[in-house]
Amino acid sequence: MSDNDLDGVAPPWFEKTRAIINCELDRILPGQNDYPETIHRAMRYAVFSGGKRLRPILCLEAGRFFGRDDEGLLRVCIAFELVHAASLIHDDLPALDACEVRRGKPSCHEVFGEAVAILAGDALLVLAFEALAGNTVISEVLRLRLVQELAHAIGTRGGMVAGEIADIETPTPTVSRASIQFINLAKTAALIRTALRAGARYAGAEERDISVLDAYGQNVGLAFQIADDLLDVAGAPETLHNTTCSDAFRRKATYPDVYGIGEARDIATQFVISACRLLKPYGERASRLIQLAEYAIAGVCHI
Ligand code: IPE
Ligand code: IPE
Ligand code: MG
Ligand code: MG
Ligand code: MG
Repeated sequence: MSDNDLDGVAPPWFEKTRAIINCELDRILPGQNDYPETIHRAMRYAVFSGGKRLRPILCLEAGRFFGRDDEGLLRVCIAFELVHAASLIHDDLPALDACEVRRGKPSCHEVFGEAVAILAGDALLVLAFEALAGNTVISEVLRLRLVQELAHAIGTRGGMVAGEIADIETPTPTVSRASIQFINLAKTAALIRTALRAGARYAGAEERDISVLDAYGQNVGLAFQIADDLLDVAGAPETLHNTTCSDAFRRKATYPDVYGIGEARDIATQFVISACRLLKPYGERASRLIQLAEYAIAGVCHI
């Protein structure tokens, strides 16, 4: 999904929060004239060529949910966007999804070449850990925990890399319900859950509340990836479907393949309903998180 697909359906407060996240990203990223310039320009291009900022906004709202809203929290949030930006650069590479366009613009490797794009992805990934580990507002024990959880969310044991490799290796005609669920849990939901947990942990939430946000995040993440797949097959004409980058052209295993478009839409809606139900006991306090869950599938499903 590009930010443009969902701009019109975002909650009213979303844009302001996105601007706050963008300021922090701008602060943490090396300047484009800093030596070596090429890699810094590529990193900035990948981060600032659009993007909804869903993961850092979820992290921020999780922190706010438990009463914290400060600079230290913002610095935790942006680590999730840096990882996400890295994942998109690598996901678009010719060896993976071979997408020449990202968010309506030439993808990073198209502008800077493959070698620079690979390194820019690596650099964004390590910058995320540098930002987390160097966040001196947080106790060392908590920092270590956040670093470990983020690494796990990206890794090969149910994390993003596990999802990306399964995505590459799963042949479309034989994809099972279990494998598509694994792919979506790992490649997309793992980072989203972890962003929520990080915001909650930063704010000092109790373990049982952290588990609720984790479960909410898993449902939102699963719904979000189905919505992304649905946009690919049935998005607006200006989005990427019917191009050489589409899931169908690349014979990607997706929820719409396995369940059909109608059922995939229903399942995504059910995931969002489940996410919102988990927050019911918190009442009005959860309204922004509920809006974010609905936003994750806005444009492709109706609740
Ligand atoms: C795209 O994520 C990749 C998925 C995991 C679905 P987003 O739709 O959040 O991408 P941007 O950052 O808003 O462009
Ligand atoms: C990407 O999933 C998930 C990542 C971890 C990057 P997709 O391959 O479906 O994402 P898009 O459609 O390229 O944004
Ligand atoms: Mg992919
Ligand atoms: Mg892709
Ligand atoms: Mg996709």
